[in-house]
Amino acid sequence: MRVLVTGGAGFIGSHVVHAMLAAGHEVMVVDDLSHGRRENLPPGVRLFVTDIRSPELAAVYAEVHPEVVCHHAAQVSVARSVAAPVEDATLNVVGTVNVLDQAVKHAVRKIIYISSAAIYGNPQYQPCDESHPVVPLSPYGLAKRIGEDYVKLFNTLYGLQYTIFRYANVYGPRQDTEGEAGVIALFTRRMLDSKVTIIHGDGRQTRDFVYVGDIAQANVLALSRADGAVINLGTGTAVSINQLWRNLRTLTGYTGQEKHGDERKGDIRDMVFSIQRADELLGWQPSVNLEHGLRQTVAAFTQTA
Ligand SMILES: NC(=O)c1ccc[n+]([C@@H]2O[C@H](COP(=O)([O-])OP(=O)(O)OC[C@H]3O[C@@H](n4cnc5c(N)ncnc54)[C@H](O)[C@@H]3O)[C@@H](O)[C@H]2O)c1
Repeated sequence: MRVLVTGGAGFIGSHVVHAMLAAGHEVMVVDDLSHGRRENLPPGVRLFVTDIRSPELAAVYAEVHPEVVCHHAAQVSVARSVAAPVEDATLNVVGTVNVLDQAVKHAVRKIIYISSAAIYGNPQYQPCDESHPVVPLSPYGLAKRIGEDYVKLFNTLYGLQYTIFRYANVYGPRQDTEGEAGVIALFTRRMLDSKVTIIHGDGRQTRDFVYVGDIAQANVLALSRADGAVINLGTGTAVSINQLWRNLRTLTGYTGQEKHGDERKGDIRDMVFSIQRADELLGWQPSVNLEHGLRQTVAAFTQTA
């Protein structure tokens, strides 16, 4: 299949590109390299350095003729979305509409749209399934929700097929360690560099951490399955930040003390996904457990000192 991956030079997108190529698909990438890196891509993959908001996106579609567009490009920081909501909306809402509009104009069959746990807001029950009320608490979460609504509307108006994935906390090799990085990437980098690590609050807050290789496999499956579905992707297992910190300390050989700082304002206390639907509709289950995933991550980060 011919697939165009937006944001394919980024952390998750690049794993999706690798997995789709390994499954025998023809993959091309559009990424403006604002956050992604050319080196994340396997040699020979065609990269269009283009902003998804730009009119030039039409020329990319005309050249690639994708059957499926896998839309990962986004402004990914919740904090930045609060500080600069207009910028967030132009990329995560208007950019998404441009990706959809061009898809219709170039007879794309399907879009795989990437949404987030952030759309649920404070969980009203656990595990959080796809029927949970959607009450985002940040411009980022709101933009992802609006993106989902546009995807469904384009299906109604033009028959553009879709799968919507809501990712939990994704981790693994190539994750950014700067800025508002994922906690695993941040702790791993700092522990390997023997720097102080701070756990926010009492560290008993829990998250659902899913390995990026498993996420990539779900994207491969969605090329030919789960049309019209909204699907959570996580592990269904809650892991506390304390547990994570201790696992990483062992794996990295870190000798620093366990230090706790202030609770982060507005942080959700606990979030774990129900992943039953992913199994039913995609035949997908996570295959990498936390121990193994953390080992892979530490090994990769050790090589990129
Ligand atoms: N990392 C997570 O835990 C997580 C959780 C839920 C959802 N997501 C979603 O997954 C997707 C990928 O996130 P990631 O963590 O790999 O982040 P990332 O920043 O590594 O990837 C995003 C990519 O999009 C590119 N991009 C940004 N603006 C662009 C533009 N205007 N035009 C073209 N390309 C542009 C960046 O250069 C980058 O390569 C995003 O949609 C994000 O919202 C991520």
